[in-house]
Amino acid sequence: MKHTDIKILFNDSEKYLSKSVTVCGWVRTWRDSKSIAFIELNDGTALKNLQLVIEKDKIPENEVKPALVVGCALKAEGRFIPSERNGFELSVESITVLGGCPQDYPLQKKHHTLEFLRTIPHLRPRTKYFEAVFAVRNRLSFAIHKYFNKNGYKYVHTPIITGSDCEGAGEMFRVTTQPWNAGCKTEQEYFEGDFFGARAGLTVSGQLEGEMAAMGLGKIYTFGPTFRAEHSNTTRHAAEFWHIEPEVCFCDLNDIIEIAEDFIKFIINDVLENCPDELAYFNERIEKGLIDKLRHSIESGFGKITYTEAVEVLKKSGKEFKYPVEWGSDLQTEHEKYLTEEYFRKPVFVTDYPADIKSFYMKQNPDGKTVAATDLLVPGIGEIIGCSEREADLEKLKTAMLKRNMNLESYSEYIDTRKYGSVPHSGFGLGFERMLMYITGVQNIRDTLLFPRTVGSL
Ligand code: 4AD
Ligand code: MG
Repeated sequence: MKHTDIKILFNDSEKYLSKSVTVCGWVRTWRDSKSIAFIELNDGTALKNLQLVIEKDKIPENEVKPALVVGCALKAEGRFIPSERNGFELSVESITVLGGCPQDYPLQKKHHTLEFLRTIPHLRPRTKYFEAVFAVRNRLSFAIHKYFNKNGYKYVHTPIITGSDCEGAGEMFRVTTQPWNAGCKTEQEYFEGDFFGARAGLTVSGQLEGEMAAMGLGKIYTFGPTFRAEHSNTTRHAAEFWHIEPEVCFCDLNDIIEIAEDFIKFIINDVLENCPDELAYFNERIEKGLIDKLRHSIESGFGKITYTEAVEVLKKSGKEFKYPVEWGSDLQTEHEKYLTEEYFRKPVFVTDYPADIKSFYMKQNPDGKTVAATDLLVPGIGEIIGCSEREADLEKLKTAMLKRNMNLESYSEYIDTRKYGSVPHSGFGLGFERMLMYITGVQNIRDTLLFPRTVGSL
C-alpha cells in the first residue's frame, strides 16, 4: 500500500510541504463539529500524531462518519500543510476505513493505568507510553550492537537449550518431550528416555559457551534471551529477559570495568541523541529529571568501592535496613539503593565480593576470601551488571567446582579451556530490560517487555 510514514513527513517536512500525500494509521482521538472534523492519527513511526482536518463540504458525510471512531484503521489522502497549533497537519481530500473498531475496544480513554494495560499486552503497543518504550528498546538494541561492532567484538549466538547451569542457582527451566506420566522407575531412566538422552534446560546465561568462543575469537558478545525460574516476584525480575554478555581475553577485572563503563556511557549517549521525543516524554510523564540523570551518568565517572568498604559504609549509615548488613551476606536491594542513590548519587561498581556468595567461575583473590567480581549498581534500580574476571587456573577452578558439589564431567568442555592455552579473561552480563528501565524511568520490568513472563503469569 503506497503511503508515507508520519515520521518521514515530520522529519522531512520541507520536502512534503503543500504536496499531496497518503498516510495510514489508527485513530487515537477525534473531534467533530458541524462543518469540520479533526482526527489524531498515529501510525507507530512517530510518537507525535498527525492531525487530519476534514472539511465536511469537501467529503461526503457517509465517508467521514465511519472514520470518526477511536481505534479504527484508516488511509487518508490530502495536502500536507503548516498549522499554527500542530506545526503541520493534513488537509484531507479522501478517506478510507481499512478496519473498523467496535465500541468494546478497550483503549477508549486517553489515559489508562499501567496495571490495566498489563491485562491487554496485545493492544498496549497502540498507546503512546508503549510506543515510546518500544522505540527506545529498539534504539538501545541497535546501540549495543553498534558499540561492540565498532570495537571489534564478534557477535556469537550461544545455545538456548543447554545442559549446564552457568549460575549454579538451580533456576533452570526444564526442556522435555517426555510425557508427565512417562512411567519411569528412576530419574536416570526418565532423562535417558528424553529427547536429548539427558537432562536439558533453557539457558540462564550464555557465558560458559561465550568463554569458549572468546578463547579462539578473542573478543565476543552475546545478545539473546535468557530464562530464569526465579520465584522473585519483584519489579525487576522476569522469567524471560534479554541478556548482553561480552567476554574478553587478555583482560583483567580493572580492564573489564573500564570497558563496562565506556559501553554504558556509549549506549546512553546514543539513545539521548536518537530518541529525543521519547526521552522528553518520559522526562515529563514518568521521571522528572530523567534527562539530567542520564547526562550526569555520562559526564561523571562511575563510583568504585570494594564490597568490604561498602559493608562499612552501610553499617555507619545510621539507616534502619530491613535486612541486617553483615560481611559475608549478599547485598539486598535496599543496601544497593542506599549506596547508589544516597551515598554515591551515581552508578557505582562494587568489587571483590565474598567468594561464598558468588559463582564458581570467578577468579579467586589472593586473600583467599574474595573474588575478582563486580556488580554495577544504578540509582532507582540497583544491580544492572554482574561482572568478573574468570578463574583461569585449572586447579583452582576445579577446587571451586568441587566445593560446590558440581559434577566436573558435565563441565568437561569448559574445564578444557583452562587446560589448553588458558588466558586471563573477563566478562559481564547486562540485563537489557533493567538498562531500559534506567534509561526510560519505567518502574516495572513488566512494562519493558512485549509479553512479559513472570512467576505465575504467562
Ligand atoms: O548477575 P547475573 O546472574 O550474571 C550472570 O548471569 C553472568 N553469567 C554474567 C556474565 O558475567 N556473563 O546476571 C546478569 C544481569 C544482572 O545484573 C541483571 O541485570 C540481569 O542480568 N538479570 C535479570 N534481569 C531481569 N530478570 C531477571 N530475573 C534477571 N536476572 C538477572
Ligand atoms: Mg548478579
